[in-house]
Amino acid sequence: MVDVRQGYENNLPRRVITGRGASGRLAEVCRGRGWNRAFLVSDRGVESAGLLAPVAASLTAAGILAGASAEVTPEPPLTDVARLAGEIREAAVDVVIGLGGGSVMDATKVAALVASRGGAPADYVGIGRAGGRGLPTILVPTTAGTGSEATFVAILTDAAAGTKVGVVDPSLLADIAIVDPALTDRLPPAVTAAAGMDALVHAIEAFIARVATPIARGLALEAARQIGPALERVCRDPGDEVARDRMAIGSHLAGMAFANASCCAVHALALPLGGRFHIPHGVITGCFAGALMRHNAPACADDFAALGTALEWGALEPAAFADRLDATARAIGLRATLDRIVVPATAIAPMASAAASNRRLIDPNPVAVTAADAERIYAEVLHVGE
Ligand SMILES: [Fe+2]
Repeated sequence: MVDVRQGYENNLPRRVITGRGASGRLAEVCRGRGWNRAFLVSDRGVESAGLLAPVAASLTAAGILAGASAEVTPEPPLTDVARLAGEIREAAVDVVIGLGGGSVMDATKVAALVASRGGAPADYVGIGRAGGRGLPTILVPTTAGTGSEATFVAILTDAAAGTKVGVVDPSLLADIAIVDPALTDRLPPAVTAAAGMDALVHAIEAFIARVATPIARGLALEAARQIGPALERVCRDPGDEVARDRMAIGSHLAGMAFANASCCAVHALALPLGGRFHIPHGVITGCFAGALMRHNAPACADDFAALGTALEWGALEPAAFADRLDATARAIGLRATLDRIVVPATAIAPMASAAASNRRLIDPNPVAVTAADAERIYAEVLHVGE
């Protein structure tokens, strides 16, 4: 945990509304804030899942919907976000609503900023470059995993440079987050499993991060309490509404937690792998969590016991805690998904060096991770071919 005598800062969404059906209150919430013209951002997946139409209809019925786009693509390219910002500016709205997963919410955060503050999305890439808040935003997640509605990070793609880039600034925090677990009821099982395990990894890494603030530690533990009894249950029985509710709240709390701590080495190793091979992010973080917690064991015995207790796994010894993470990844099908991908041996060293040089994610890790450590862990977890 951060040295509290040194002082620290916490950044959280301004207002959070939760509950089954809470997304039905969008029009009322806008009116209550005096926002009479709204722009609605989503994507084709949200539309084809039938989640967009009722929200758009309720905003139209209230006379609030002034523009909409369902064109966001995964890890949105900077150029797409620039176009979206232009559409938002032209619609002259008071508020931008992002309804979707991490990509939609990230695009919404940056487009709302660019629409009001001008310039191009690339101008804001980096840490603390917003220069002030953009148009008000309401973020409504349709998956339970990214926690993006609770964070001030947006991950976009610089297609010209062939890299992922981050816009990181507390000004990106939503004015209002609406967490409606009913929106996740019909998620495909593979998405439920990967996103849910990623939320668990967020809670664990936020709790053990060297830069975790006390409030982040509290949020991470409560996230673990919500997720522990629900993750395997919701993967076995997608219709279990109680488990869905717990996952939605747990994912949201884990998002707030890592926003006020950090993700650590699991995410450092996940990024180069996800960038080179098209493997869902949560499949990677879920499968690497066990190996990295084994690596972190010397510094984390008390923290793992506390997390194990919160997860209802018991106050496990570090080795048993790491084994339990591996067993969870197997039980919900993530391991089988990763095993289908053969990673060429030549890819390991470059990925390891990229992971170990990611200071933002490696420095907060409780135990140092060198390129050699990363190489060993990739080789251990991945199905490596010739
Ligand atoms: Fe993640």
